[in-house]
Amino acid sequence: MSSLADLFSNNQAWAEDLNTRDPKFFEDLAVQQHPEYLWIGCADSRVPAEELVGLAPGELFVHRNVANVVVHTDFNSLSVMQFAVDVLKVKHIIVCGHYGCSGVKATLRGERLGLADNWLRHVDDVLQKHRDLLSHWESETHRLNHLCELNVIEQVANVCKTTVMRDAWERNQPVTVHGWIYGMKDGLLRDLHTSASSVDEARNAYQRAVNALPE
Ligand code: CO
Repeated sequence: MSSLADLFSNNQAWAEDLNTRDPKFFEDLAVQQHPEYLWIGCADSRVPAEELVGLAPGELFVHRNVANVVVHTDFNSLSVMQFAVDVLKVKHIIVCGHYGCSGVKATLRGERLGLADNWLRHVDDVLQKHRDLLSHWESETHRLNHLCELNVIEQVANVCKTTVMRDAWERNQPVTVHGWIYGMKDGLLRDLHTSASSVDEARNAYQRAVNALPE
C-alpha cells in the first residue's frame, strides 16, 4: 500500500520552513486562533483559499463544499458559520465562487454526476430563479460565467438570512458578508458588490448585484 511518503516529506519541509522563519509560530498557534475571516468556497482543488489571498495558518477559517452552496438545513455549514461568528468573532464572511465551476456547469447542462446531483439541486434552484435573465446570453460560456456569479449572489443572501447572521446583527456585532468570484484563468478575485453588514443592506445588495450583471 502506498503511504504517500512524498506528502509527508512535503509536510516536514513546510513545517521546517515556517519554524526557521518564526521559531514560535506553531507554539503560539497551538494555543489559540484569531481568524478575522470565514471563507465559504468551492471544494475545487484549483481554488486554494488561504493561498490565493496570501493568508497564513490561523488567519482564515474555511468551509468548502461542492459549488460553494449555503443551504438553510445544512448543519455542517451552519455550524461552521455559528462557530466562526459567535465564538471566533470573525469580522468578514466571504462567499467565494469561481468561474468554470464543474458543479455549476453540470447543472447548466443538466448532466448527471451521481449523488452530487441532489446537492446541486440548490444550484438548479438558482438557475430556475434566473432563467429569464440567463437567456439573454447566447453563448454557453457567458451563461456559465453568469450562473457562477448568480450562485455566489444567492448564497450570500442565504448566509444573510441565517439565524446566525440575524442574531449577530441584532446584537450589533460587526460582521460583513461578501460575495467574490475567482478566475482560474488569471488567478484573480473579483468583488460582486453584494457586501452587507445588516439585514436591510443585504436586501439592497442582493438586488443591486443582480441588476449589475451585464445585459
Ligand atoms: Co466549483
